Amino acid sequence: MLIKPPTPIPPSEITPKEHWLRRRELMAGAAAGLGLAALGGLGAVLTARPARAGDKIPGLAPSPLSTDEKPTSLEDVTSYNNFYEMGTEKDDPARYASLLQTRPWTVRVDGACAAPGEIGIEDILTGFPQEERIYRLRCVEAWAMVIPWVGFPLGDLLKRFQPTSQAKFVAFETLHDPKQLPGQKRAVLEWPYREGLRMDEAMHPLTILATGLYGEVLPGQNGAPLRLVVPWKYGFKSIKSIVRISFVESQPPATWNQMQPDEYGFYANVNPAVDHPRWSQKSHRIIGAGLFAPKQKTLPFNGYADQVASLYEGMDLKRFF
Ligand code: MTE
Repeated sequence: MLIKPPTPIPPSEITPKEHWLRRRELMAGAAAGLGLAALGGLGAVLTARPARAGDKIPGLAPSPLSTDEKPTSLEDVTSYNNFYEMGTEKDDPARYASLLQTRPWTVRVDGACAAPGEIGIEDILTGFPQEERIYRLRCVEAWAMVIPWVGFPLGDLLKRFQPTSQAKFVAFETLHDPKQLPGQKRAVLEWPYREGLRMDEAMHPLTILATGLYGEVLPGQNGAPLRLVVPWKYGFKSIKSIVRISFVESQPPATWNQMQPDEYGFYANVNPAVDHPRWSQKSHRIIGAGLFAPKQKTLPFNGYADQVASLYEGMDLKRFF
């Protein structure tokens, strides 16, 4: 998470900042009945946005599994991001998000399962009851945000494909298309971004696939149209813009773990007792809380120890970090 690209991304590929910053304003204008024609040239900006990002998602039930912490502002959640496929700076993802085409979008599910196949994003949105889950996302870089996700349990989707007894882990892959994800033109990481979970972690009710945030369809910079959220693990496990999910027998490759195994473990459970080799994990700052806000104490499993510590019984969490 702290690597610089060798060359900057060419300006021709950059959406001018004023365009992406004005998107919200434009959406509000459209909703107020102005219509695209009335927006004139600005209508073109609006239609160039990732399809349907920002649309309201109706009928969302609040989840009892939500934290009662104050959510980070929508502005911070959508403008301070890690998504290396869109650049290594925090504001790159919002700038490049319009290049990512999220419709149509298909996820292939294969490997050790009786019913492998493909599922389209529309079927995912209509086929699984979506709810609002407010989770704290604790990044390994020692900052966090509180995000009102929209999503559903990953396990509900996995069950449809009937995993066999050979399925011990689940592997995930992000879209690999340098035209839409210009950061992939540089070998900053090995592409596509990959992540993995043990089967019991994947089936845990706290693990969700997110399709939106703040009651709206997910923006590109946050991993549209479908990303993983595992609230007791560091943020890098929560892989974005997923196109493939595979049931596998042994521990699958995970991008950051492969790249720097001594710094980023496969399990990546939030653990204040295991420092990152280059910084402490004992506390973190909340993005948007202000420069002088006191740092917050990091809790084991990001505060979810009651629900998930039993998954790791008997494991040395300093070794399997
Ligand atoms: N997924 C992909 N495909 N590429 C990435 O670079 N970054 C990870 C994770 N998922 C990343 C990714 C990291 S380090 C974090 S902290 C979270 O996404 C950030 O999610 P957010 O930008 O929605 O807050």
